[in-house]
Amino acid sequence: MKTVGVILAGGRGSRLYPLTAKTNKHLLPMGPMPMVFWPLAQLLQSGIREIAIVTNPEYVELFSEHTANCGRVGARVTVIAQPKPEGVAQALGMAKDFAGGRPCAVALGDNIYTKPQVGFFSSFAAEPVGARVLLCKTGTPRDFGIVELSEDRTRICGIEEKPLNPRSDLASTGMYLFEGGVFDIIEKVKPSPRGEYEIADVLGAYIETGSLGWSMVEGEWADASTLATYEKANAMVRGLPVPPEVAPLMEKR
Ligand code: DAU
Repeated sequence: MKTVGVILAGGRGSRLYPLTAKTNKHLLPMGPMPMVFWPLAQLLQSGIREIAIVTNPEYVELFSEHTANCGRVGARVTVIAQPKPEGVAQALGMAKDFAGGRPCAVALGDNIYTKPQVGFFSSFAAEPVGARVLLCKTGTPRDFGIVELSEDRTRICGIEEKPLNPRSDLASTGMYLFEGGVFDIIEKVKPSPRGEYEIADVLGAYIETGSLGWSMVEGEWADASTLATYEKANAMVRGLPVPPEVAPLMEKR
């Protein structure tokens, strides 16, 4: 079964207010193009052609307009509404019918990478079982989902969302690969103490069965959730060209 792509582009964008007062965070500029085209490029570069974007109901039309040219790159993009932004896992759950039991590559719409994540996608394609996360060292582990590796570094033995006392400096970045059964796991996730359906709890279920693999980020990574990190991500991609896989999407119709 072919892997489908899901980009999560909802949320409140509250940490970027007032930039997000009248638009969705993922349509703000990021280097030479709107932010959402970066995760879209990653999925297209990995060969995925059927993609869903999950966003807030009021922005469904805007995302449909931004992706109206997707046929020019041989892709089909479906925009799905998440009625309320109650967590990353819940947002992914909205794509259950779209995925229809197929494996999913999931990209957080505000995570930017300077290079195509070739190794990450190809290792899962070779063995599409369980789930796979894309890790990167971070200097601010309290801001992310942080994983702990076994002593021999052969397996992930724990994950904690925004830990007060981080057990490592390895962040789970915003790109995941899941086998088709992930939606059954999502349905069992309960809200965390901060009231959100956490992706870390979904990944935790795979850790329990010893089926969470990982790859390290190729090139650089940044997440654009606060004004400071948004500026950092923009500086990171400065000078990078528009990836050819998404250029036709931005042509005038
Ligand atoms: O940036 C990587 C981190 O992203 C991971 O290390 C964490 O494990 C993961 O939980 C996530 O943490 P954040 O606090 O950065 O998540 P944020 O609320 O910023 O949402 C991430 C993306 O998901 C963002 O592009 C918006 C989208 N989203 C978020 C929520 C809460 C939705 O589409 N719907 C939602 O309800």
